[in-house]
Amino acid sequence: MVQATPFLLVLFLALWAHGLAVKKCSLTGRWVNDLGSNMTITTVNANGVFAGSYHTAVTATSNEIKLSPLQGALQKSPNQRGQPTFGFTVNWSFSDSITVFTGQCFVDEYGKEVLKTMWLLRSHVDNIKNDWKATRVGINVFTRLQSQE
Ligand code: BTN
Repeated sequence: MVQATPFLLVLFLALWAHGLAVKKCSLTGRWVNDLGSNMTITTVNANGVFAGSYHTAVTATSNEIKLSPLQGALQKSPNQRGQPTFGFTVNWSFSDSITVFTGQCFVDEYGKEVLKTMWLLRSHVDNIKNDWKATRVGINVFTRLQSQE
């Protein structure tokens, strides 16, 4: 028992140091996705609630694209291990649509942060009979803007 104590102490310290060294994924900052859209997450509070802005590179409308607000939340459970799941809504300022994103913030094999997301884009339709064609679905992958690394 006495001999085991230093061994356990070293093991504990090694595990603790490893935990400190593992890079965590943080949502705060500027991101670009595979479509060329830009997103800035400005604030993440202690409860994981966050806000920011989104500049889409594309639109399903013929409207002029404008910067739009986003609001979301990340999962704060300790099981997230520095790679949290999250969701956010973009309330488009230049169209009648709304988009919800859900995803996870990963640190990839090269130590780069990447947001793997899926989205639902809900367009407004004037008649319930058109509901069937009102929702688009897709995937976006976000990486941190180079100047942010
Ligand atoms: C609209 O066209 O009504 C609003 C803009 C929608 C842009 C979509 S949201 C999902 C996808 N990812 C992007 O970065 N832009 C498009």
